[in-house]
Amino acid sequence: MIIAANFKTNKTRKETIDYLNELKKIDLKNITVRVFPPSTAFIEDEFIGAQNAYPIINGAFTGEIGLEQLNEFNINKILIGHSERRLILNEFQEFIAKKFEFFKKHNFEIIYCIGETIEIRKKGIDEVIKYLKKELEGIDLEYEKLIVAYEPVWAIGRGVSASIDEIEEIHKEIKSIINRPLLYGGSVKVENIKEILQIKNVDGVLVGSASLDVNNFIKMIEIAKEIKCL
Ligand code: PGA
Repeated sequence: MIIAANFKTNKTRKETIDYLNELKKIDLKNITVRVFPPSTAFIEDEFIGAQNAYPIINGAFTGEIGLEQLNEFNINKILIGHSERRLILNEFQEFIAKKFEFFKKHNFEIIYCIGETIEIRKKGIDEVIKYLKKELEGIDLEYEKLIVAYEPVWAIGRGVSASIDEIEEIHKEIKSIINRPLLYGGSVKVENIKEILQIKNVDGVLVGSASLDVNNFIKMIEIAKEIKCL
């Protein structure tokens, strides 16, 4: 079971260190925990991954960080293809695939995000699958350090996740294409994590807003541990 926290543009370095210290007080043995803080809060820690980086060792890419900056903290995990980067920062598929190849070459664990917009969802399931397949173009689906996260854009940061049936339907489809761990993301919280983790083909969750409070995140991990024991 993989439980990942995406801080997005939240938290300072001190807050991130305090967060990890709290997290480490609990038994995390059977759960794979990932924490993605902003790059200003990078520290060397087994849980820490990068929300983004430019596919370059170093160079002239103002405002970006490259492999050299990640290596300084021994970071070898990264999120690629998050909808906020696709839709707000205008990252297009060809560039995302290039980023994937670069970090694959450098042996990173990649949490690769896909998810449809509300406009696509309204057109029905076939269109959703078509859209998700486009978001997988150029991606090596056999990569052994690939983890996929299905995050419908319309469920991110809304407080209301996709329904159990919707998640089950899409996860089944994705699993028929990709035989890798598959996370669900989009308004996962203490109140709904149990039912989401119990859905077939859900191997974990990627949590944004509800992960910001460490006590909430710990509660979610505790729930995940119980499910694993069932
Ligand atoms: P959310 O974000 O949990 O706030 O919906 C999830 C994500 O964007 O990864």
